[in-house]
Amino acid sequence: MKKAPSYETQELREFGEVLQGRRTINLYLQTPVPDGLVHEAIEAATWAPNHHVTEPWHFYRLGKETVGRCVDLVRTIVMEKKGDADKAEHKAAAWAEKPGWLVITCRRSDDELLQQEDYAACCTATQNFMLYLWKAGVGSKWTSGDITRDPRFFDILGIDPSQEFVVGMIWYGYPKLTPTQTRKPVDDVTSVLP
Ligand SMILES: Cc1cc2nc3c(=O)[nH]c(=O)nc-3n(C[C@H](O)[C@H](O)[C@H](O)COP(=O)(O)O)c2cc1C
Repeated sequence: MKKAPSYETQELREFGEVLQGRRTINLYLQTPVPDGLVHEAIEAATWAPNHHVTEPWHFYRLGKETVGRCVDLVRTIVMEKKGDADKAEHKAAAWAEKPGWLVITCRRSDDELLQQEDYAACCTATQNFMLYLWKAGVGSKWTSGDITRDPRFFDILGIDPSQEFVVGMIWYGYPKLTPTQTRKPVDDVTSVLP
């Protein structure tokens, strides 16, 4: 029987470290993220696998004015939901600190299988985006909070909700603090069948 080829290279180990090392970042420095890097990360996102090459994604890069409107909206949403002005202000202030904003949407489809596969493709694109940034030292957070389903958010972005839905809002920036995380051992989540 032939021996399996060796796969153990430094490059592979380093690649694995990038995959494992990426963390969801909540606190960011205000250091600006280069525009070109974000552009490259979006390009990396578009190389995600997508069944039938539907390229079902769209990327919205939010500028200052749009971010301001989103911050106002989240303040309103928290006020409506919790009726607590302090909580609303606290959340708005935390959001105003996020240096980079990207919204990733997926086109809508009436075909259930296609919709599922398109969403899956958009999720892999999102991960590509985040990992590309991470390799460049830029952290991110994928959020799917209430705002991403709020009609007022669609108005702010100029999105037609009958045509696309939000996969995630991604904040990005240089990390101020990188938290730790754990995962179950591989054997706990793997079954090897004969
Ligand atoms: C589809 C999706 C939606 C998420 N939405 C939120 C969210 O709304 N709020 C939040 O705090 N984290 C959100 N996260 C981030 C997860 O909480 C995070 O990935 C998890 O805690 C594991 O941490 P890690 O990314 O550092 O491994 C989301 C992640 C995914 C994949």
